[in-house]
Amino acid sequence: MSSNIYSVAAKARQSRPIDPSEPFDVSSVKGKTILITGGASGFGAAFFREWAAAGANVIIGDVDDSKGESIVRAIRIATDNHNHHFIHCDVTDWQSQVNFFKEATKLSPHGGIDAVVANAGIAEVNPTFNTPKNLDMEEPPKPNMKVIDVNLMGVLYTTHLALFYLPRNPGSQPVDPNKSTDRADQSSRDRHLLLIGSLASLCPIPLQTLYGTAKHGVLGLFRSLRCTAFTSGVRVNLVCPYFVETAIIRGPGRAVLAGANLAKIEDVVNAASRLMSDTRINGRSLVVGPPLKIVETEEGEWQYSGQEDNGTGTDVSLWEVHVDDLENTDVFIRRMVGLMNAAYEMNGWIKWTSDLGRALLLTATDATRIFPWRRRN
Ligand SMILES: NC(=O)c1ccc[n+]([C@@H]2O[C@H](COP(=O)([O-])OP(=O)(O)OC[C@H]3O[C@@H](n4cnc5c(N)ncnc54)[C@H](O)[C@@H]3O)[C@@H](O)[C@H]2O)c1
Repeated sequence: MSSNIYSVAAKARQSRPIDPSEPFDVSSVKGKTILITGGASGFGAAFFREWAAAGANVIIGDVDDSKGESIVRAIRIATDNHNHHFIHCDVTDWQSQVNFFKEATKLSPHGGIDAVVANAGIAEVNPTFNTPKNLDMEEPPKPNMKVIDVNLMGVLYTTHLALFYLPRNPGSQPVDPNKSTDRADQSSRDRHLLLIGSLASLCPIPLQTLYGTAKHGVLGLFRSLRCTAFTSGVRVNLVCPYFVETAIIRGPGRAVLAGANLAKIEDVVNAASRLMSDTRINGRSLVVGPPLKIVETEEGEWQYSGQEDNGTGTDVSLWEVHVDDLENTDVFIRRMVGLMNAAYEMNGWIKWTSDLGRALLLTATDATRIFPWRRRN
């Protein structure tokens, strides 16, 4: 980690940038309880399959009851594990999400939640902030904000609940990017919030104005949270996929993308699995693009090799973005993170003092039990 005095990366418990060539072991999710919103289809369903196969207990929340129940039935049979569940959850409805988290905690074999994936999302079917067709109306109709409700408000509700439930996960430890890579350490209880952004978090998508607004919001949420979530010991990461063929891309979108090189769902699953499995990773954001051939130039820079690749290029589909956010921070951020860090350390001391107090009290009680003559009448 940088020793730059303007860096707050270490103070915010941020891990070092990701090296995609480093292996990761998805089997470390075994026994963990993972909640996925929008888990009945697309990415959510693919994460479900991958992590359930690796031994995790997966609980999905979705508005599509029939798809949700049927995927749970299939994965229970495939994994011979009945700890996978579907719970009806509409992410736009606060109480529905509260019930999802409460119910999931009860169903979790160890009574806690190790990881939450804020994945549910919809696309804009009738572009809202387009030029109105009829300018003769006295006033325009109220805009339809469903995309913001699902893709931003829903994610904020999920995040708020995750920051409450994850630190309560019994036996979990606060995030520590420097902990060992030992299997035992990696498989211990976790506190992980994985946000699903999009390429639309980083660039505009014409006619998907609200979608782009919501996904930029998710990026903003991630960049803010990675300065502060360490105070509850929660690690927060983000995946921003390029277009992938799932149910979210409707006919017109598919027509515009015809013949284009799309990203692959297995690369999205790999990126999410890397972040899910390596419990040291915190505050990192991965973009998953279509695989591109990249070659190293004589100056040591990576360059797209285009069609002229002569077999020397490397396929790359994973890119890290906003890598250096915390490396060169402004005075306000430095001081705020510094203060929060001091409070975090202080909490540690307060807990240590109260644990010690309780231990001394217990010792005194035990001594009275062992040496009854010490009891005062
Ligand atoms: N497929 C892509 O090209 C792409 C690219 C970048 C980001 N994303 C994002 O990935 C996430 C998953 O999308 P996907 O491609 O798997 O799409 P998908 O349509 O296959 O899956 C989305 C799931 O969310 C559920 N859902 C919708 N509204 C909900 C609500 N109110 N409450 C709970 N669940 C709800 C749907 O029923 C569905 O099961 C979304 O956040 C999406 O924006 C997708």
